Amino acid sequence: MSRNLYCNPLNFPCKIITNEMLLSSLKTRYINYVPAKIFLTTEFLQILDSKGCKVLHLESFYSQEHYVQPIHIDSLVNKRQETKINFVWGGENSIMNWYEIIDDSIEPVLELTPIGTPYQIYPASNHKLVHSEAIHSPSLVNTSVPHNIVNFSEKRLCLSLLVVKKDNNYMPYKEALEVFSEYLI
Ligand SMILES: [Fe+2]
Repeated sequence: MSRNLYCNPLNFPCKIITNEMLLSSLKTRYINYVPAKIFLTTEFLQILDSKGCKVLHLESFYSQEHYVQPIHIDSLVNKRQETKINFVWGGENSIMNWYEIIDDSIEPVLELTPIGTPYQIYPASNHKLVHSEAIHSPSLVNTSVPHNIVNFSEKRLCLSLLVVKKDNNYMPYKEALEVFSEYLI
């Protein structure tokens, strides 16, 4: 069993999505705010609760064939340590890459998604690939390290869940690996 600090597959002992038919409603645009209580089963939310966690934000990304996402971190605050749980449908052979920034003095550019979630884009040619893998679904992903998604010949739907502690504190990836250890594959 190998663990890394970027991405690790999970297996929850319950159904996650209340009704898979709902997923087609997320394919009308690139990003959607997703109401957790409608899309996620009570059983899954109870697992998070039992681990002292909750959903702070749930959003979907629907990317096209051959999409190459800009290299970014998901958070507003630079170097904030946070963890997401990603669920993926489609996107055959798509990969997620993580990068080390070569020159730290070059600041990322703050952007907002159409639904108002902040992210920071890193300029091209100032990064080195440190990890790459095809994402198992679901997976515990470290979105504090600069990363991007690369699609190949299939569109990809991703439901991305920002998991935090019940007191609203963000969860560093190392801590999330411990909290969710019994569900790591
Ligand atoms: Fe991201």
